[in-house]
Amino acid sequence: MTAAGPVGVGVVGAGNISTQYLTNLTSFPDLDVRFVADVDAERARSRAAEFGVPGCGSLDELLKDDGVELVVNLTPPALHAEVVLAAFDAGRHAWTEKPLAITREDGAAVLDRAAARGLLVGCAPDTFLGPALQAARRLVDERGIGAPLGALSVFQNPGPERWHPNPAFLFAAGAGPVFDLGPYYLTALVQLLGPVRRVSATAGSSRSERTVHQGPLAGRRFPVGTPTFVQALLEFRGGAGGVAVFSFDSGLGRTQLEITGGEGVLEVPDPNQFVGDLRVHRLDGSVDVVGVPPESPTRGIGALDLARAIRQGRAPRASAALGYHVLDVMASMLESAERRAAVDIASTVEPAAPLEPGWDPTARTLA
Ligand SMILES: NC(=O)c1ccc[n+]([C@@H]2O[C@H](COP(=O)([O-])OP(=O)(O)OC[C@H]3O[C@@H](n4cnc5c(N)ncnc54)[C@H](O)[C@@H]3O)[C@@H](O)[C@H]2O)c1
Repeated sequence: MTAAGPVGVGVVGAGNISTQYLTNLTSFPDLDVRFVADVDAERARSRAAEFGVPGCGSLDELLKDDGVELVVNLTPPALHAEVVLAAFDAGRHAWTEKPLAITREDGAAVLDRAAARGLLVGCAPDTFLGPALQAARRLVDERGIGAPLGALSVFQNPGPERWHPNPAFLFAAGAGPVFDLGPYYLTALVQLLGPVRRVSATAGSSRSERTVHQGPLAGRRFPVGTPTFVQALLEFRGGAGGVAVFSFDSGLGRTQLEITGGEGVLEVPDPNQFVGDLRVHRLDGSVDVVGVPPESPTRGIGALDLARAIRQGRAPRASAALGYHVLDVMASMLESAERRAAVDIASTVEPAAPLEPGWDPTARTLA
């Protein structure tokens, strides 16, 4: 394997989100995308052809390509840990889509094996590395809203079966609004307010079955295996509080993330996006707008930071330790709802260092 120059990448999972990833990963000069793998060989072949990637086939075949140093895992959540562990066993670093795993045990196995093998592992979301959430981080760190007191986080809509052509996995254990969308909101909150100490939640579901709306499977019914309406109270270790709603049961679609400080309320753009202006509502009723450039590379910048981290011998910013803490908070929310009791969060994590000024994903930095 090479130890200099662009990092060789193999992508596993050629489904819906692979288009966005491959668009970005193939445009970053520090990466060399060499292989696309999928259990559906034809899907892997056509995605590889679409993006000019030389290799395609199964995960086993991908792991035989000595030029692949970093496996980018875009499989459904229930397979995240299994694919990442297979990558480690073949001596490869790994980036995985969120969540890190669907149980704490599997998430811990990923952290433990990476440490044992001396391999790096990163976990989506990487939206917090986008210009909007980086600007929010600077503003909070510089006390632009005074000392933070609390957060309001709302994600609600009628459910992804309206747009996703194969949505059943989004309603299985390990998905639902908490595990599917929670990572964006909770990762942003941890970056802005620090780790979570305790959660208390309630949970429910409007229906036990849903129906696919789009694509060849339209009309097919599938079971709902996880709560689709969850409300939580969060207590951060730093002292701030938070209220969070995660719903696939709401006719009123809404995404909202606000941080209240003693000197203002920061309205953060949708944490599932990379750009969007910030608004700071002052105590006198005035509103300061912090403009964010509207163009930014999207999904894949966390994997790029990880690739650069491999060469630089440092930890990635969107780390699996952060992914594990978020997983712990999400699992604790569902446990709290089931047990009707607050749950203390055992794990903790340091928020990732902000990106250095001028950080440029399109620069060639690995000669
Ligand atoms: N769709 C989105 O908008 C979106 C956005 C952000 C993150 N994600 C995350 O990305 C991941 C994939 O989501 P998606 O919407 O692309 O799903 P998808 O179902 O469209 O694609 C998943 C792909 O993985 C393949 N696959 C399954 N098991 C495999 C295995 N063992 N080896 C190789 N390939 C395998 C499937 O055949 C499929 O092509 C999920 O973790 C999801 O949470 C999706």
